[in-house]
Amino acid sequence: MTFQSTAIERVHQYLEKQAHLDTLRFITCGSVDDGKSTLLGRMLFEAQTIFEDQVDSLQKDSKKMGTQGGDIDFALLVDGLTSEREQGITIDVAYRFFATDRRKFIVADTPGHEQYTRNMVTGASTADVAVILIDARQGVLPQTRRHSMICSALGINKVVVAINKMDLVTYASDVFDRILSDYMNFANQLEFSEVTAIPMSALRGDNIIEHSNAMQWYQGPTLLGFLETVDTRASRINHPLRYPVQWVNRPNLDFRGFSGTVEAGTATVGQAIRVLPSGVNATISDILLFEDHLHSAESGQAVTLTLDQEIDVSRGDVIVAADAPCEVSDQFQVKLVWMDQEPGYLGRSVWLKLGTTQVNARITAIKHKININTLEHLSATEIQMNDLAVVTIKTDRPIAFDPYKDCVPMGALIFINRMTNRTEAAGMINFALRRASNVHRQQLDIDKAARRQLNGHTSRVLWFTGLSGSGKSTIANALEKALHERGIRTYILDGDNVRHGLNSDLGFTDADRVENIRRIGEVAKLLVDAGIVVLTAFISPFRSERAVVRELFDDGEFTEIFVDTPLEVAEFRDPKGLYQKARRGEIPNFTGIDSPYEAPLKPELRLETSQKSVRHAVDEILKLLKV
Ligand code: ADX
Repeated sequence: MTFQSTAIERVHQYLEKQAHLDTLRFITCGSVDDGKSTLLGRMLFEAQTIFEDQVDSLQKDSKKMGTQGGDIDFALLVDGLTSEREQGITIDVAYRFFATDRRKFIVADTPGHEQYTRNMVTGASTADVAVILIDARQGVLPQTRRHSMICSALGINKVVVAINKMDLVTYASDVFDRILSDYMNFANQLEFSEVTAIPMSALRGDNIIEHSNAMQWYQGPTLLGFLETVDTRASRINHPLRYPVQWVNRPNLDFRGFSGTVEAGTATVGQAIRVLPSGVNATISDILLFEDHLHSAESGQAVTLTLDQEIDVSRGDVIVAADAPCEVSDQFQVKLVWMDQEPGYLGRSVWLKLGTTQVNARITAIKHKININTLEHLSATEIQMNDLAVVTIKTDRPIAFDPYKDCVPMGALIFINRMTNRTEAAGMINFALRRASNVHRQQLDIDKAARRQLNGHTSRVLWFTGLSGSGKSTIANALEKALHERGIRTYILDGDNVRHGLNSDLGFTDADRVENIRRIGEVAKLLVDAGIVVLTAFISPFRSERAVVRELFDDGEFTEIFVDTPLEVAEFRDPKGLYQKARRGEIPNFTGIDSPYEAPLKPELRLETSQKSVRHAVDEILKLLKV
């Protein structure tokens, strides 16, 4: 037998054995100086997953960098990029894989700096366990609290408090005790089910793999020992079946299967299931894995199910155990971690993704933000990058879910910005709000069509947008007269008017403008339903809100008219003298001066008022309306 074939055989044996081990996902949290990279490096090294040539170059690098005398600097193993090494910080989530005889591990290594919350959330969102590093000389730092808070918010309920660098505090048990008691004072307010504290020195290898001789006073597990044995799967497997449908597999008319991953529990042939949100019951008739027919599939397996009846199931539906279904709702209380530069506002519409479902959603109330250091509740009207907040949200149709603490994949959601497509927040459903669930829409006999018929014309909204002083109200006013003369029923909603009544509680912060436009959109919708041609004249500076309003209406009902007047012209006209005041600093957040205006990209009509008279603009609109 050649050397090569023995080696290949050994690899096969190894892979065969590994295939049957379960995988633990964990995250390490700590700041640059806590020794995190050294810890990871040592675990990778001692778990023997580093190749010989890597060890070689590591020894060379260690000598060159000289941070650990002649010894191997384990941190160099994980601080992959040269530029990072030189800066001494790690700047992205790095997933690393290693294995022992008992388990496979995927570790998410995330940087500790505040501005990298997003990375930490990404890493933590799939982790079963968090290892929170504390430098024994420093004790519990704001960072430590912040990391713990995020882990708790993301539903990690088992943490290891790794009190590192014990060699630098003479391995003293009282230092360990004091830090642990400090930590527990804080952690008792979080929702961890298990906190395991381990005194260690990653650099010297104390209590990482082997028990340390220097700390005989410590009787607990070593870090690797703990990670090899901690039980995280039980709750997922013992949970009732949750199977979000990823796609409907219909290769021909004779076969209709539902493909996806069993996220919790077990699917078994013959089992009674319910499809949510529709609530239709059926029985699993077959479970397919490629060509094979299985009797059952458990949490984590990706399969295709067939049912005994032809029922309507589509992507985003969830197949659940009929005797233990999950809840369905369209209003929730959610804990959010905000990750985008652009803040989160009350009322702004976003895409919400939960498992395989995607719906429109918006924040209906910001209950409070949470001070990560003190856990204090703070009131807020917008949610900034790195904020942790408790909010209520409303989706535009009901979705199937479980509270996050009961079943992570059924209660973890993300917000996607509809304009930029960026993931802007990660959220965890606490519970559904029941308050509005029995408000039903009243079926009325006289409807929009009947009202339009009586009026003898259709109803719609003409949405004027543009800078203050651009001419929105002037044109809307002239247009209304022209329409009135033609026997058309109209109504003008104007910024200056509505802000005296309905919206008198709103100012000009971004958050207030978002809410201003949301309300106007809803009022305009009622008026269109009443059979009226509505003219709105609001700056409405944000694309996002204009897009949301547009979606409230049927095709052809919403016409965006961009009153395109350059800032210099509007400022020169300055009909209310407001630009002058704004320039003097007397009006903060003035659109065009120190608050943005996002011009429409594809308005139905663009009116350049610096070149056209009001009469001309009105004619153009009448032409567009064909009246
Ligand atoms: S919007 O941005 O929320 O759409 P809206 O159209 O309702 O604004 O109100 C704009 C009007 O409020 C302006 O025409 C101006 O008369 C007045 N106003 C007062 N303060 C401001 C400000 N900071 N920015 C813009 N307009 C202001």
